[in-house]
Amino acid sequence: MVISHTIRNASPFLKWAGGKTQLLPTLLNYVPTHFHTYIEPFLGGGALFFELQPVKAILADSNPELINCYTMVRDRVEDVIKVLSDYPYSEEFYYAIRAERPRDPVMRAARMIYLNRTCYNGLYRVNKQGQFNVPFGRYTNPVICDPERLRAGSYALRNAELRCVDYQEMLCKYVKPGDFVYLDPPYHLVSKYSDFKRYTAEFFYIDDQRILAKMARELAAQGCYVLVSNSYCDFILDIYEGCEIVEVAAKRNINKDPEKRGEVKEALIVCKHYSTHHQITHQLALWEASRESSLQFGKP
Ligand SMILES: C[S@@+](CC[C@H](N)C(=O)[O-])C[C@H]1O[C@@H](n2cnc3c(N)ncnc32)[C@H](O)[C@@H]1O
Repeated sequence: MVISHTIRNASPFLKWAGGKTQLLPTLLNYVPTHFHTYIEPFLGGGALFFELQPVKAILADSNPELINCYTMVRDRVEDVIKVLSDYPYSEEFYYAIRAERPRDPVMRAARMIYLNRTCYNGLYRVNKQGQFNVPFGRYTNPVICDPERLRAGSYALRNAELRCVDYQEMLCKYVKPGDFVYLDPPYHLVSKYSDFKRYTAEFFYIDDQRILAKMARELAAQGCYVLVSNSYCDFILDIYEGCEIVEVAAKRNINKDPEKRGEVKEALIVCKHYSTHHQITHQLALWEASRESSLQFGKP
Protein backbone atom coordinates (compact mmCIF):
# COMPACT_ATOMS: atom_id res chain seq x y z
CA MET A 1 0.00 0.00 0.00
CA VAL A 2 1.34 3.44 -0.90
CA ILE A 3 0.92 5.80 2.01
CA SER A 4 0.09 9.30 0.94
CA HIS A 5 1.75 12.36 2.44
CA THR A 6 -1.52 13.36 4.12
CA ILE A 7 -1.90 9.96 5.71
CA ARG A 8 1.55 10.10 7.23
CA ASN A 9 0.97 13.63 8.56
CA ALA A 10 -1.54 12.81 11.26
CA SER A 11 -2.74 15.37 13.78
CA PRO A 12 -5.48 15.40 16.46
CA PHE A 13 -8.97 15.01 15.00
CA LEU A 14 -10.60 16.17 18.24
CA LYS A 15 -10.25 19.58 19.87
CA TRP A 16 -9.26 18.98 23.48
CA ALA A 17 -8.96 21.20 26.54
CA GLY A 18 -5.30 21.20 27.50
CA GLY A 19 -4.32 19.88 24.04
CA LYS A 20 -0.59 20.04 23.48
CA THR A 21 -0.31 20.98 19.80
CA GLN A 22 1.15 24.43 20.45
CA LEU A 23 3.71 23.05 22.93
CA LEU A 24 4.97 20.34 20.59
CA PRO A 25 8.20 22.13 19.58
CA THR A 26 9.17 22.32 23.27
CA LEU A 27 7.92 18.84 24.17
CA LEU A 28 9.93 17.26 21.35
CA ASN A 29 13.17 18.42 23.00
CA TYR A 30 12.44 16.08 25.88
CA VAL A 31 11.43 12.98 23.97
CA PRO A 32 14.09 10.23 24.27
CA THR A 33 15.69 9.16 21.00
CA HIS A 34 15.17 5.46 21.75
CA PHE A 35 12.44 3.81 23.75
CA HIS A 36 10.46 0.62 23.73
CA THR A 37 6.74 1.47 23.97
CA TYR A 38 5.10 4.90 24.01
CA ILE A 39 2.69 5.13 26.94
CA GLU A 40 0.07 7.88 27.28
CA PRO A 41 -2.47 7.34 30.11
CA PHE A 42 -4.23 10.74 29.74
CA LEU A 43 -4.75 10.64 26.01
CA GLY A 44 -7.23 13.49 25.34
CA GLY A 45 -6.57 14.81 21.81
CA GLY A 46 -3.27 12.86 21.65
CA ALA A 47 -1.17 15.68 20.15
CA LEU A 48 2.20 14.17 21.08
CA PHE A 49 1.18 10.68 19.98
CA PHE A 50 0.16 11.89 16.51
CA GLU A 51 3.34 13.90 16.19
CA LEU A 52 5.59 10.97 17.12
CA GLN A 53 3.61 8.14 15.52
CA PRO A 54 5.57 5.58 17.53
CA VAL A 55 5.79 2.00 16.27
CA LYS A 56 4.42 0.62 19.55
CA ALA A 57 2.00 2.53 21.75
CA ILE A 58 -0.44 1.95 24.59
CA LEU A 59 -2.91 4.80 24.88
CA ALA A 60 -5.53 5.22 27.58
CA ASP A 61 -8.03 7.61 29.04
CA SER A 62 -10.79 7.23 31.61
CA ASN A 63 -13.33 8.73 29.19
CA PRO A 64 -15.20 5.80 27.56
CA GLU A 65 -16.64 7.91 24.72
CA LEU A 66 -13.17 9.13 23.83
CA ILE A 67 -11.63 5.66 23.78
CA ASN A 68 -14.56 4.27 21.78
CA CYS A 69 -14.08 7.11 19.30
CA TYR A 70 -10.36 6.33 18.83
CA THR A 71 -11.11 2.63 18.53
CA MET A 72 -13.70 3.21 15.81
CA VAL A 73 -11.44 5.65 13.94
CA ARG A 74 -8.69 3.02 14.10
CA ASP A 75 -10.86 0.07 13.06
CA ARG A 76 -13.83 1.42 11.08
CA VAL A 77 -12.82 4.83 9.82
CA GLU A 78 -14.80 4.64 6.56
CA ASP A 79 -18.01 3.83 8.48
CA VAL A 80 -17.41 6.78 10.81
CA ILE A 81 -16.81 9.11 7.84
CA LYS A 82 -19.97 7.88 6.13
CA VAL A 83 -22.17 8.63 9.16
CA LEU A 84 -20.49 11.92 10.02
CA SER A 85 -20.60 13.34 6.50
CA ASP A 86 -24.42 13.30 6.65
CA TYR A 87 -24.60 15.39 9.84
CA PRO A 88 -25.63 19.03 9.29
CA TYR A 89 -24.48 22.02 11.29
CA SER A 90 -27.61 23.27 13.03
CA GLU A 91 -28.61 24.03 16.59
CA GLU A 92 -31.67 21.80 16.35
CA PHE A 93 -29.66 18.82 15.13
CA TYR A 94 -26.99 19.49 17.77
CA TYR A 95 -29.44 19.23 20.67
CA ALA A 96 -31.15 16.22 19.11
CA ILE A 97 -27.89 14.32 18.80
CA ARG A 98 -26.72 15.48 22.21
CA ALA A 99 -29.86 13.90 23.71
CA GLU A 100 -29.27 10.57 21.93
CA ARG A 101 -27.50 7.62 23.56
CA PRO A 102 -26.61 5.38 20.62
CA ARG A 103 -25.39 1.86 21.38
CA ASP A 104 -23.71 1.20 18.09
CA PRO A 105 -19.99 2.03 18.51
CA VAL A 106 -19.70 3.73 15.08
CA MET A 107 -22.72 5.95 15.84
CA ARG A 108 -21.20 6.77 19.24
CA ALA A 109 -17.91 7.75 17.60
CA ALA A 110 -19.66 9.92 15.00
CA ARG A 111 -21.69 11.58 17.76
CA MET A 112 -18.54 12.26 19.76
CA ILE A 113 -16.78 13.90 16.80
CA TYR A 114 -19.89 15.87 15.83
CA LEU A 115 -20.39 17.27 19.34
CA ASN A 116 -16.68 18.03 19.64
CA ARG A 117 -16.61 20.02 16.38
CA THR A 118 -19.84 21.94 17.00
CA CYS A 119 -20.14 22.48 20.75
CA TYR A 120 -19.16 25.62 22.61
CA ASN A 121 -15.38 26.00 22.59
CA GLY A 122 -14.76 22.31 21.79
CA LEU A 123 -15.22 21.45 25.45
CA TYR A 124 -15.94 18.00 26.80
CA ARG A 125 -17.91 18.31 29.99
CA VAL A 126 -20.40 15.96 31.60
CA ASN A 127 -22.81 16.23 34.50
CA LYS A 128 -22.84 13.90 37.52
CA GLN A 129 -24.79 11.31 35.54
CA GLY A 130 -22.07 11.31 32.90
CA GLN A 131 -24.25 13.11 30.33
CA PHE A 132 -22.55 15.54 27.97
CA ASN A 133 -23.89 18.99 28.79
CA VAL A 134 -21.93 21.55 26.75
CA PRO A 135 -24.17 24.02 24.84
CA PHE A 136 -24.18 24.56 21.07
CA GLY A 137 -21.25 26.58 19.71
CA ARG A 138 -21.60 29.27 17.08
CA TYR A 139 -19.09 28.98 14.23
CA THR A 140 -18.95 30.02 10.61
CA ASN A 141 -18.78 26.82 8.55
CA PRO A 142 -17.19 24.46 11.09
CA VAL A 143 -15.44 21.42 9.60
CA ILE A 144 -17.50 18.54 10.98
CA CYS A 145 -16.16 15.73 8.85
CA ASP A 146 -12.56 15.91 7.66
CA PRO A 147 -12.05 12.54 5.90
CA GLU A 148 -8.32 13.01 5.27
CA ARG A 149 -7.57 13.88 8.86
CA LEU A 150 -9.63 10.93 10.10
CA ARG A 151 -7.90 8.54 7.70
CA ALA A 152 -4.50 9.87 8.74
CA GLY A 153 -5.50 9.37 12.39
CA SER A 154 -6.70 5.86 11.64
CA TYR A 155 -3.39 4.99 10.01
CA ALA A 156 -1.37 6.43 12.91
CA LEU A 157 -3.47 4.40 15.36
CA ARG A 158 -3.25 1.12 13.41
CA ASN A 159 -0.89 -0.60 15.86
CA ALA A 160 -1.88 1.27 19.01
CA GLU A 161 -3.43 -0.55 21.94
CA LEU A 162 -6.33 1.49 23.33
CA ARG A 163 -7.60 1.14 26.89
CA CYS A 164 -10.35 2.81 28.86
CA VAL A 165 -8.77 2.64 32.31
CA ASP A 166 -7.78 4.84 35.19
CA TYR A 167 -4.19 6.11 35.14
CA GLN A 168 -3.22 4.02 38.18
CA GLU A 169 -4.26 0.78 36.54
CA MET A 170 -2.51 1.80 33.33
CA LEU A 171 0.76 2.65 35.05
CA CYS A 172 0.73 -0.47 37.23
CA LYS A 173 -0.21 -2.96 34.53
CA TYR A 174 1.28 -1.84 31.25
CA VAL A 175 4.51 0.10 31.78
CA LYS A 176 7.90 -1.54 31.73
CA PRO A 177 11.51 -0.38 31.93
CA GLY A 178 12.69 1.33 28.76
CA ASP A 179 9.21 2.72 27.93
CA PHE A 180 8.56 6.41 27.35
CA VAL A 181 5.68 7.60 29.54
CA TYR A 182 4.07 10.95 28.78
CA LEU A 183 1.78 12.12 31.58
CA ASP A 184 -0.56 15.00 30.79
CA PRO A 185 -3.17 14.83 33.58
CA PRO A 186 -5.97 17.32 34.23
CA TYR A 187 -4.01 20.28 35.51
CA HIS A 188 -3.82 21.25 39.14
CA LEU A 189 -6.32 24.08 39.55
CA VAL A 190 -4.51 27.37 39.99
CA SER A 191 -7.47 29.68 39.61
CA LYS A 192 -11.09 29.26 40.57
CA TYR A 193 -12.01 30.06 36.95
CA SER A 194 -10.07 27.16 35.46
CA ASP A 195 -12.47 24.46 34.36
CA PHE A 196 -9.97 21.92 33.10
CA LYS A 197 -10.89 19.10 35.46
CA ARG A 198 -14.37 18.42 34.26
CA TYR A 199 -13.57 15.88 31.54
CA THR A 200 -15.42 12.96 33.09
CA ALA A 201 -18.04 12.43 35.76
CA GLU A 202 -15.21 11.93 38.29
CA PHE A 203 -12.84 14.71 39.19
CA PHE A 204 -9.09 14.49 39.39
CA TYR A 205 -8.30 15.26 43.00
CA ILE A 206 -5.27 16.77 44.69
CA ASP A 207 -4.40 13.33 46.05
CA ASP A 208 -4.35 12.05 42.47
CA GLN A 209 -1.68 14.64 41.69
CA ARG A 210 0.36 13.36 44.65
CA ILE A 211 -0.10 9.70 43.70
CA LEU A 212 0.79 10.47 40.10
CA ALA A 213 3.99 12.29 41.12
CA LYS A 214 4.98 9.33 43.28
CA MET A 215 4.29 6.84 40.50
CA ALA A 216 6.21 9.00 38.00
CA ARG A 217 9.30 8.96 40.22
CA GLU A 218 9.01 5.22 40.81
CA LEU A 219 8.74 4.51 37.09
CA ALA A 220 11.77 6.70 36.42
CA ALA A 221 13.70 4.82 39.08
CA GLN A 222 12.78 1.55 37.33
CA GLY A 223 14.29 2.82 34.07
CA CYS A 224 11.36 4.51 32.28
CA TYR A 225 11.63 7.89 30.61
CA VAL A 226 8.93 10.00 32.23
CA LEU A 227 7.77 13.40 31.04
CA VAL A 228 4.94 15.23 32.83
CA SER A 229 2.97 18.38 31.99
CA ASN A 230 1.11 20.36 34.63
CA SER A 231 0.45 23.87 35.80
CA TYR A 232 3.41 25.87 37.06
CA CYS A 233 2.61 26.54 40.71
CA ASP A 234 4.07 25.94 44.17
CA PHE A 235 2.12 22.73 44.78
CA ILE A 236 3.35 21.08 41.57
CA LEU A 237 6.93 22.32 42.10
CA ASP A 238 6.75 20.82 45.56
CA ILE A 239 5.48 17.33 44.63
CA TYR A 240 8.04 17.05 41.82
CA GLU A 241 10.91 18.48 43.81
CA GLY A 242 14.26 17.10 42.64
CA CYS A 243 13.06 16.52 39.06
CA GLU A 244 14.08 18.81 36.21
CA ILE A 245 11.29 21.40 35.89
CA VAL A 246 11.07 23.67 32.87
CA GLU A 247 8.74 26.67 32.80
CA VAL A 248 6.90 27.10 29.51
CA ALA A 249 4.33 29.66 28.36
CA ALA A 250 1.15 28.36 26.73
CA LYS A 251 -1.88 30.07 25.27
CA ARG A 252 -5.14 28.90 26.78
CA ASN A 253 -8.57 29.94 25.61
CA ILE A 254 -10.67 27.54 27.66
CA ASN A 255 -11.78 29.60 30.59
CA LYS A 256 -15.29 30.64 31.61
CA ASP A 257 -14.11 34.21 31.96
CA PRO A 258 -12.96 35.65 28.58
CA GLU A 259 -10.87 38.23 30.47
CA LYS A 260 -8.77 35.43 31.89
CA ARG A 261 -7.98 33.78 28.57
CA GLY A 262 -4.42 34.29 27.46
CA GLU A 263 -0.94 33.12 28.29
CA VAL A 264 -0.45 30.82 31.26
CA LYS A 265 2.65 29.32 32.80
CA GLU A 266 2.97 25.56 32.50
CA ALA A 267 5.52 23.16 33.89
CA LEU A 268 7.29 20.41 31.96
CA ILE A 269 8.73 17.92 34.37
CA VAL A 270 11.41 15.44 33.45
CA CYS A 271 11.68 12.57 35.91
CA LYS A 272 15.21 11.48 35.27
CA HIS A 273 16.47 7.97 35.29
CA TYR A 274 20.15 7.31 35.55
CA SER A 275 19.98 3.62 34.67
CA THR A 276 22.52 2.03 32.39
CA HIS A 277 21.47 -0.32 29.63
CA HIS A 278 22.47 -3.23 31.88
CA GLN A 279 20.25 -1.95 34.73
CA ILE A 280 17.27 -1.51 32.40
CA THR A 281 17.71 -5.09 31.11
CA HIS A 282 17.86 -6.31 34.70
CA GLN A 283 14.72 -4.32 35.69
CA LEU A 284 12.95 -5.63 32.61
CA ALA A 285 13.75 -9.23 33.62
CA LEU A 286 12.39 -8.53 37.13
CA TRP A 287 9.28 -6.90 35.67
CA GLU A 288 8.64 -9.84 33.35
CA ALA A 289 9.17 -12.37 36.15
CA SER A 290 6.76 -10.57 38.50
CA ARG A 291 4.16 -10.21 35.73
CA GLU A 292 4.54 -13.90 34.90
CA SER A 293 3.92 -14.94 38.51
CA SER A 294 0.98 -12.55 38.99
CA LEU A 295 -0.61 -13.93 35.81
CA GLN A 296 -0.12 -17.46 37.13
CA PHE A 297 -1.90 -16.59 40.35
CA GLY A 298 -4.58 -14.70 38.48
CA LYS A 299 -3.72 -11.29 39.96
CA PRO A 300 -3.62 -8.25 37.69
C1 LIG B 1 -5.01 17.46 29.80
S1 LIG B 1 -6.01 16.24 29.06
C2 LIG B 1 -4.85 15.46 28.01
C3 LIG B 1 -4.57 16.34 26.81
C4 LIG B 1 -3.77 15.63 25.73
N1 LIG B 1 -2.39 15.44 26.11
C5 LIG B 1 -3.84 16.39 24.41
O1 LIG B 1 -2.81 16.71 23.80
O2 LIG B 1 -4.96 16.68 23.98
C6 LIG B 1 -6.30 15.10 30.34
C7 LIG B 1 -7.05 13.81 29.99
O3 LIG B 1 -7.05 12.99 31.17
C8 LIG B 1 -8.25 12.23 31.21
N2 LIG B 1 -8.45 11.79 32.62
C9 LIG B 1 -9.00 12.47 33.66
N3 LIG B 1 -8.95 11.75 34.79
C10 LIG B 1 -8.35 10.57 34.47
C11 LIG B 1 -7.99 9.40 35.20
N4 LIG B 1 -8.26 9.30 36.51
N5 LIG B 1 -7.37 8.39 34.55
C12 LIG B 1 -7.12 8.46 33.21
N6 LIG B 1 -7.45 9.55 32.45
C13 LIG B 1 -8.03 10.59 33.07
C14 LIG B 1 -9.31 13.17 30.69
O4 LIG B 1 -10.42 12.44 30.18
C15 LIG B 1 -8.53 13.96 29.63
O5 LIG B 1 -8.74 13.43 28.36
